[in-house]
Amino acid sequence: MSLLSVRDLVTEFQSPSGTARAVDGVSFDVNPGEIFGIVGESGCGKSATCRSILRLFGGASAQVASGQIMLKETGDLARMHERELAQVRGRDVAFIFQDPLSALNPTMRIGKQIGEVIRRHRKASRAEAREAALQLLRDVHVTSPERRLDAYPHELSGGLRQRVVIAMALALRPRLIIADEPTTALDVTVQDQILRLLKERRDSLGTSIILVTHDLGVVSQICDRMAVMYAGRVVETGAVRDVLDAPSHPYTQALLAALPGQVSRDSQLIPIKGAPPSLIDPPAGCRFAPRCALAQPQCAIGAAPGLHSRPAAAEGHFDACILNEVSHAAA
Ligand SMILES: Nc1ncnc2c1ncn2[C@@H]1O[C@H](COP(=O)(O)OP(=O)(O)O)[C@@H](O)[C@H]1O
Ligand SMILES: [Mg+2]
Repeated sequence: MSLLSVRDLVTEFQSPSGTARAVDGVSFDVNPGEIFGIVGESGCGKSATCRSILRLFGGASAQVASGQIMLKETGDLARMHERELAQVRGRDVAFIFQDPLSALNPTMRIGKQIGEVIRRHRKASRAEAREAALQLLRDVHVTSPERRLDAYPHELSGGLRQRVVIAMALALRPRLIIADEPTTALDVTVQDQILRLLKERRDSLGTSIILVTHDLGVVSQICDRMAVMYAGRVVETGAVRDVLDAPSHPYTQALLAALPGQVSRDSQLIPIKGAPPSLIDPPAGCRFAPRCALAQPQCAIGAAPGLHSRPAAAEGHFDACILNEVSHAAA
């Protein structure tokens, strides 16, 4: 049974120009001990999907309009009252943002910040919380951890700050960590170290991780399964090997074709020709159709297509291209 099961999630942002459906019918599962990658162009709804899970919209006027977010043994997070959800945050599900500074309090020493996360969820004296914070800094391989406890966020490098944020995320041994482009702001060596750290945690404690990234190389290296998003929807999902070796949606194919050579470490997403549609008033049918080299007239009609399995597809490999459905019916 999956740890997290997201079904038909719809999330809307209110803006002066209208209501944007940043997430429009997204479904996916994350299994225990799995690293699940989410990729897609900027603005396709990756962050909105992640933020919906814990309702962390950071002041934006957004809401989960419908759908289910089932967390094993906890229930539907989409229906939970804010007070209950506050308990889930950190304890069961932790969030790592792209910008570590936004997650840290600039006026509080590191040790105290980590300690407060611990003390918010369990009984511990200040001294015990400090000791636990010190151990967490060691766990995330922070050098001179004793000294860092008394530092303020601005006194640390970007890489160290992100380690502190990860230490805070690990503090309560969550079952699921959601990492939204956790290394985008960091240089490549530090990126590798941070990703290794997350993988270590999965390997040692079986923590599930949702990893949003722009880097198909990272997905190929550390993720087990993945989803490709386009314009607020999942257009393809499956085991990483199946999706990257045999992409079946024209959008995934275009993303991979844009890469020079094979998917490798550092295969950053290269934008493909044209721009994604507005999420305030998206086109009918497949939202990728206006940019798709294979599009047929029937692609631009009706509701946005859902995920289907192709005849020869591996188990759990689905895509949302109706042209594949047609060949399915004919097969
Ligand atoms: N603060 C916001 N206010 C209004 N609309 C937003 C806001 N954040 C995101 N959106 C809308 O949600 C869409 C998806 O954004 P986001 O989830 O941040 O994309 P990604 O993480 O894939 O780059 C955007 O294209 C935009 O339409
Ligand atoms: Mg984002």
